Amino acid sequence: MVEARNSIHGQWSSRWAFVLAATGSAVGLGNIWKFPYITGENGGGAFVLVYLLCIAVVGVPVMMSEIMLGRRGRQSPINTMRTLAREEGRSGGWQILGFSGVLAGFLILSFYSVIAGWALSYVVSAVGGTFTAITAERSGEIFGELVSNPGVQLFWHTLFMGITMFVVARGVREGLERAVRLLMPALFVLLLVLVGYAMNSGGFMQGVHFLFDADFSKITTDGVLIALGHAFFTLSLGMGAIMIYGSYLPENVSITQATFTVAIADTVVALLAGMAIFPIVFANSLEPGAGPGLIFQTLPVAFGAMPGGLFFGTLFFILLVFAAWSSAISIIEPVVAWLVESRGMSRKRASIVSGLITWLLGIATVLSFNLWSELKLFDKTIFDLLDYLTTNIMLPLGGLMIALFAGWAMKNSHSMGELGLKRSGYKIWQILVRYVTPVAILVVFLNKIELI
Ligand code: TRP
Repeated sequence: MVEARNSIHGQWSSRWAFVLAATGSAVGLGNIWKFPYITGENGGGAFVLVYLLCIAVVGVPVMMSEIMLGRRGRQSPINTMRTLAREEGRSGGWQILGFSGVLAGFLILSFYSVIAGWALSYVVSAVGGTFTAITAERSGEIFGELVSNPGVQLFWHTLFMGITMFVVARGVREGLERAVRLLMPALFVLLLVLVGYAMNSGGFMQGVHFLFDADFSKITTDGVLIALGHAFFTLSLGMGAIMIYGSYLPENVSITQATFTVAIADTVVALLAGMAIFPIVFANSLEPGAGPGLIFQTLPVAFGAMPGGLFFGTLFFILLVFAAWSSAISIIEPVVAWLVESRGMSRKRASIVSGLITWLLGIATVLSFNLWSELKLFDKTIFDLLDYLTTNIMLPLGGLMIALFAGWAMKNSHSMGELGLKRSGYKIWQILVRYVTPVAILVVFLNKIELI
């Protein structure tokens, strides 16, 4: 019998608090900014279908596993993997999962913060009335002015990193929990308002067809890899973020239930965002494949035209910032917890150190949209490269390791006890993490490598 461990960083106050925090982590720019633009770039329906499949057969079982490892280890991912590997009589090499997660955390947050900075700057534009009766063309110009200006982006990036590290420094209950309570439901309601507007925009059916008619001739191998990577990104999987949240989870909470709640909420938000955005794209003859600027070019047009648009527009971008904020916190939490545990830093110091490193790295993303926009490797800018490397390569590899450890390296009696599933449910989970997830990830990877 293993002694129950406790996390030195604290614990969630309840099951509900965990579900909110994990949902806060999952729902973010990935759903509202990224999902629409990668769907647009990859041709719509078929991509969406592959993405949904990845969520169901890879995302859900990996999320259950990641939470389980966290709750059992009760430490930062690096130390959790060390403890659990030892406990199962396995090699200390499994710690690499934790280390790659730390690296991924720095890299992901570095660009995430820059995009969140765009959202911050849009709050100010919205409240100032910039979007009132705006044309699609003018909206595109405004976005262009923002990304071509390094100084302005640097300012917002700095502000966003500042507020993120402020909350992280305050710790689990004080900081993380309080930030998500109200904001998630509010964001949800506002998305419904936007979908309501989109229904009357003239492009609604075209948008719905684009999202849900699966034409498989439009999807490429790369598209499949992007869908898989995004399943990890949007559920915050594969780098220890959900693992560390799991390590603050009380013992008596059902991991399966919590996972389903989070995965469903996350998927619904992404689909709502798609249904809000694509009708506007088509009604205004915009380009679905416009790239990272897609929501920033389309949504102002909707707010500019709708009654009460100033209010709704301002509120929307505020909530988007909050969604990004509650996600950003989780991206850096594994790093901070590790610095506290293993480097003997105070939480505050660890937050400052990791925040500064991330902030510095973020400057590369800022510049990749302007001064360094011609600097390309494999035909990708620095931002594209960072995103591709972390989302499509590091996260699926991390997920693969999580699945293999939970499915093969851990004793059945251990995983069964943690998951608290009945025999049939446990069997399904086991087949998914042992075979389906690893095979899916490897097949997608090998296909990709063949093409290079
Ligand atoms: N899931 C978040 C989003 O969709 C981003 C995020 C938070 C994340 N934590 C993560 C992505 C950990 C990858 C890994 O916006």
